[in-house]
Amino acid sequence: MALAAAPGGLYALRMAVTDTADARLVPVPAAPAGQEPCLITVQPHAGACGAVIGGVDLRSDLDDDVVAEIRRALLDHGVIFFRDQSLTPRQQVAFSRRFGPYSPVPFIEPVADHPEVIAVVREPSERQGFAFGGLWHSDFSFLAEPPTGSILHAIEVPPYGADTIWANQYLALSTLSPGLRATLRGLRGVHSAVNAYSPKMQGIHDQFVGMTVRTSTDAERTQVHPVVRVHAETGKEVLFVNAQYTVGLDGWWPHEAKPLLDHLARHSTQESFTCRWQWRAGDVAFWDNRCVQHMALADVSGHRRYMHRTTVAGEAPIAAPTV
Ligand code: SIN
Repeated sequence: MALAAAPGGLYALRMAVTDTADARLVPVPAAPAGQEPCLITVQPHAGACGAVIGGVDLRSDLDDDVVAEIRRALLDHGVIFFRDQSLTPRQQVAFSRRFGPYSPVPFIEPVADHPEVIAVVREPSERQGFAFGGLWHSDFSFLAEPPTGSILHAIEVPPYGADTIWANQYLALSTLSPGLRATLRGLRGVHSAVNAYSPKMQGIHDQFVGMTVRTSTDAERTQVHPVVRVHAETGKEVLFVNAQYTVGLDGWWPHEAKPLLDHLARHSTQESFTCRWQWRAGDVAFWDNRCVQHMALADVSGHRRYMHRTTVAGEAPIAAPTV
């Protein structure tokens, strides 16, 4: 795989086509900022983040210009939604790869014959109050190169409930005081999957009926990332900590770090920074893990929810300058 820098902080990736002949593996850059979309429709969904995209069939071989407009909408809104899509795993992988290569998904068994797809499943027998992804997080922020994007496709959904919520982390940062922002710019968060996928969490995962999660001591590893990162495509500063995976602050004692991380967790997920999506079968949500956190609501039991997720590779977060 060759990595080449491109203007505007974007990157171009060229990989050998291996398993899917229909996948095009050169990510398309976003349409220029401020350019009105003309090939798709973009309807804001909430004040803080989220937009509904229309006029596109994700099963088709999308033109680069359409992909560029979708990418622009993602950068502008943090999470975008498509109604009435019906994607096979292969079609979802092909769509996902237009935005970058596959990001490894440790600890979770992929769908049979589709190593780039995981099934996010809740069976009717699973109890209320507990769901995969049910705490605020940015997907796999414990990796050295956390994924850029995640694409979740609803195949079967309950008649009500089991919504997903996202929170805008640009807003989370910009609404902090100048003093706290200046302090945070010099800090590095310690990220780990220890409270999600280490063996001590096996009891929780045993409650999943529909998903196979492999806990491992690998989850105890830590990875340090800037608390304030610069988004590689928008160039804007954004808060990058989350309650699920940020377990400390580099160089701080745990009892010093916890109050600050707790404060940031509450602040960054307050209602006015969020949007909420009520799923219908056929919906696709595509979010940018660099600038939104999300959580699944575990408010319903007695109904099946079955989704496919693909995950787009990212880059090591860039630290914001300290002055
Ligand atoms: C996830 O965190 O990827 C799952 C979100 C959801 O199931 O709504």
